[in-house]
Amino acid sequence: MSGYRELFDASIDDPAAFWADAARAVTWTREPTRILDDSNPPFYRWFPDGELNTCANALDRHVDGGRGDQAALIYDSPVTGAKRTYTYRELLDETARFAGALRTLGVSKGDRVVIYLPMVPEAVIAMLACARLGAVHSVVFGGFAANELAARIDDARPAVVVSASCGIEPTRTVAYKPMLDAALEMAKHDTPACVILQREQLPCDLVDGRDVDWAAAIAGAEAVDPVPVASTDPLYVLYTSGTTGKPKGIVRDNGGHAVALLWTMRHVYDTDPGDVYWAASDVGWVVGHSYIVYGPLLLGATSVLYEGKPVGTPDAGAFWRVASEHGVKVLFTAPTAMRAIKKEDPDAKYLADYDLTGLKYLFQAGERLDPGTYHWATEKLAIPVVDHWWQTETGWSIAANPVGVEHLPLKPGSATVPMPGYDVRILRPDGTEADVDEEGAICVKLPLPPGTLPTLWGDDDRFVASYLSAFDGYYLSGDGGYRDGDGHLFVMGRTDDVINVAGHRLSTGAIEAVLAAHPAVAECAVIGVADEIKGQVPRGFVVLKAGASDEGLADALIASVRENIGAVAALKRVDVVAALPKTRSGKILRKTMRGIADGRAEAPPSTIEDVSVLEALTPVLRSGSHSP
Ligand code: COA
Ligand code: AMP
Repeated sequence: MSGYRELFDASIDDPAAFWADAARAVTWTREPTRILDDSNPPFYRWFPDGELNTCANALDRHVDGGRGDQAALIYDSPVTGAKRTYTYRELLDETARFAGALRTLGVSKGDRVVIYLPMVPEAVIAMLACARLGAVHSVVFGGFAANELAARIDDARPAVVVSASCGIEPTRTVAYKPMLDAALEMAKHDTPACVILQREQLPCDLVDGRDVDWAAAIAGAEAVDPVPVASTDPLYVLYTSGTTGKPKGIVRDNGGHAVALLWTMRHVYDTDPGDVYWAASDVGWVVGHSYIVYGPLLLGATSVLYEGKPVGTPDAGAFWRVASEHGVKVLFTAPTAMRAIKKEDPDAKYLADYDLTGLKYLFQAGERLDPGTYHWATEKLAIPVVDHWWQTETGWSIAANPVGVEHLPLKPGSATVPMPGYDVRILRPDGTEADVDEEGAICVKLPLPPGTLPTLWGDDDRFVASYLSAFDGYYLSGDGGYRDGDGHLFVMGRTDDVINVAGHRLSTGAIEAVLAAHPAVAECAVIGVADEIKGQVPRGFVVLKAGASDEGLADALIASVRENIGAVAALKRVDVVAALPKTRSGKILRKTMRGIADGRAEAPPSTIEDVSVLEALTPVLRSGSHSP
């Protein structure tokens, strides 16, 4: 096989030839004769005349190819004590029947299905069943509250919502059904039917005429065959936080997605059919979509679905237990999980209890892998710890160390090098290219490779405005960073108001909207500050309306964010302050505030309106933040 440099150069010199070759790994119902449609920039389409079914690629073809009795999915749930292995044949059978149940409820090609489920096998089955019907799934992370769910329901306008009675967090059972009911009540869109998985930990009431019990729905259902769809038809919409309160519906197509993910399984993750691959994430995030569900299954590998945490379920050895018990070769998780383990078990004593000889790689993403965590994990596990950088928008890594092709030198703090298809450039504000070691906006020259977002759901204009208009001909990643003299990429953080809390992406704008809605609040700012475990956490600053009282206000605001956005927002601290520092044109100096909170020496910008406001705020900003 060629080395990284040859592959990368080939992908940039002749993208169509490169991806046509990769596309041969997919089973098409109609082979694409055109590879890239670039007739309508900045919109690009991959394999425009190809036709396939993603579920058939993930399940049927492995059963047909002799892997029917191999494990496809291993469900391991320390929070309930349940464990179950599904062979490819069993997963196909349940998926085909659940697709039949959805069809009975009126779901057909192109319809949307919102999935609001915890980390249970039914989440994977529901996603694949949608893919089988050519329907478009939209999974909403369980940590989001009713409001956020309602916003997604209104945007996606589903024919069916699939949910469960509850989710299980280490310290509490989370009743999902009341949140679903409230969301459906709030939403303008009228969802005709819901399928509800009853869990014995907290069964729920069903609404007559609307709710169907999962078990009943699947019991009487007929298995359905995969429905061929166009390569460019949407497979899913996954909402992610932008800079405003309104989430962005990232669209994923069928053909490009299958081609790209299959390519990454071997080349990035060095995984073969039959290997055990574990992405310790959640199906509600892009990592879960790509590497709990589609990537491993498209390849014919075994995927682990873990309903638990890195610590507390029951202890900081949980990841090592799962990896050794199931023979995991590749573990993929967020650095925050490693930091949580490191905090509880700094000497990694639990490792001694397990045989981890099968574990070959630890992949990290979701936030920057800080050098401290990199060194700790590398030393304790004695395997390559590979940071790789990507986003919901791209669906797979923009930069990585492609260990399946070639082990490039690992540098702490670097996500290594751009992956084939990503012509990464670091741009200055004027659009010229930055020098070596000079920080700038990380952009990708168009076209983006297959599997990346073709647009935002129902909103081409917002797609162009958000990503393609800052620099003509480039995709704006929203991250800043630089390249060193060896071409290694260092991703340093967002250049906008998106924050990453424990690997979860949140919009400070959305949290600000909740704070601003309180009658006592005149104005507010939310910034992400460094946190030892979660990487970043939000902190709120509010200015009172004249005559308003601050009695109990901080607690009320924290509760309101939890209620409106969800527990996952993790807002724990709000300070009432006299004023917020602003520019003369009235823009709040969030970046300066963030720098001061993180302990950096921040010179006030020359445009500041009143420097004494910033001086008064500095001690408040400096109290209570921690660097990871
Ligand atoms: N459903 C309902 N509530 C959820 C939830 C879900 N699916 N996921 C998280 N929550 C709740 C948590 O219970 C917590 O509530 P609390 O405030 O009552 O304690 C809150 O949301 C914040 O959750 P989280 O940010 O996960 O913090 P934590 O303290 O519970 O756990 C870690 C910290 C680091 C252990 C945890 O975040 C983790 O394992 N992260 C892995 C990262 C990851 O999966 N990233 C995805 C991209 S790779
Ligand atoms: P999400 O869309 O939720 O996956 O979040 C994507 C964002 O997470 C990126 O834009 C980055 O800000 C951050 N991110 C993800 N992976 C990395 C990484 N390896 N290094 C630095 N930042 C990362």
